[in-house]
Amino acid sequence: MDVLFFAEEPDPRPWMAALAQALPEARVHDWAAGGAPACDYAVCWKPPAAFFAGQRRLKAILNIGAGADAVLADTNLPLDVPVVRLDDAGMGAQMEEYVAWCAFHFLRRMDDYARAQRDALWDRLPPRARGAFPIGIMGLGVLGARVAAFMRDLGFPVRGWSASPKAIAGVECFAGPQALAAFLAPVRLLVCLLPLTDATRGILNRETLGMLPRGAALVNIARGGHLVEADLIALLDDAHLAGAVLDVFPVEPLPAASALWRHPRVVVTPHVSAMTLVEESMQQIAAKIRALEQGRPVVGVIDRARGY
Ligand code: NAP
Ligand code: GLV
Repeated sequence: MDVLFFAEEPDPRPWMAALAQALPEARVHDWAAGGAPACDYAVCWKPPAAFFAGQRRLKAILNIGAGADAVLADTNLPLDVPVVRLDDAGMGAQMEEYVAWCAFHFLRRMDDYARAQRDALWDRLPPRARGAFPIGIMGLGVLGARVAAFMRDLGFPVRGWSASPKAIAGVECFAGPQALAAFLAPVRLLVCLLPLTDATRGILNRETLGMLPRGAALVNIARGGHLVEADLIALLDDAHLAGAVLDVFPVEPLPAASALWRHPRVVVTPHVSAMTLVEESMQQIAAKIRALEQGRPVVGVIDRARGY
C-alpha cells in the first residue's frame, strides 16, 4: 500500500516516521521530496495546490486535523474520494484546559487586575459567582461536547448551540439559526468551536456578539474566518465586550501589524488551543486506513455538502 504524505510543518519527518511505525504495511512517500507514485491514500495538512495532481487511484484522504476547511477549499481535491478528519486525537483535553483558563481569567477578573497593575492601582473588585457566569459553546461536536461537559463539571452553567438538536446531561442545548438569539442572551463567556463552512463564516459579528450581555467575553478557538475582526474591535472599544481570547486568525501567523497584538482587551495565542499530537494523530490515521482497507466503517468522514 502506498501513502502520499504532506504536512505544513517545519519538519514533517517525525510525522512520517510515526505514521510508518503505526502502519508498517505501508510505503509512506514524502510529497515534498518529489517522484511519489500514484498512491492509495493521502495523509495531509494544508497541502499545496499540486499535491493531488496525478493521484488517480486514491481511496481516501486523511486530514491531519479536526477542521477540514483547508483541504475542502483545495480546488484540485478529487470529488469522489472520501475525506476523513481527526476525531479528538488528544485535542479535547487541551481544549478543556484552554477554555477553563479563559473562564477563570474573566470570572476572577484577571484581565481587570492586569490592567490595574500596569497603573499600580490597588483596586479590589466585587466577587463573582461561578454559578452566575454562563458559558456558551457554539458547536457541540467532538470537541465542543467535551468542553461543555468539562465546564459543567467545574460548576459553570453551560449552554450549547449546534445545527441539529442535542441532549447532553446538565447542558442546556439549542439548535439552529432560529435559536441563536435565545442561546446567546445570558452568555458571559462565548466559546466558538464551530467548523468553518459557508453557514458559519463571519458568524461572530456585530449583530450576534451584540446579543451577548454587556461585559461578556469571547473565545475563538475554531477558525479566524468565523470572526469579523472590525466588529469585535468596535464592541470592545465601546465596552460592550469585556475582552476576547483569540487563537485563530484568517492569516496565520497573525501579521505583526495587526492591531489585535496590541489591543488591551485581547489575548492572542498562536493556534495552540489544541495542538495536533504526532503519535496520537498518526496512530488514529493508521487505524482508519487499516479499517478502510478491510472494508470497515470509520468515524469522521466529511459530508462535503454541509462542509464538515
Ligand atoms: P465537529 O465534531 O464536526 O463538530 C462541529 C459542531 O458544530 C457540531 O456540533 C455541528 O452541529 C456544529 N455546527 C456546524 N455547523 C453549524 C451551524 N451552521 N450552526 C450551528 N452549529 C453548527 O468538529 P470538532 O471536532 O468539534 O471541531 C470543531 C472545530 O474546531 C474544527 O472544525 C476546527 O475548526 C476547530 N479546531 C481548532 C483547533 C485549534 O487549535 N484552534 C484545534 C482543533 C479544532 P451538528 O452536531 O448538529 O452537526
Ligand atoms: C486544528 O486547527 C484542527 O482543525 O485540528
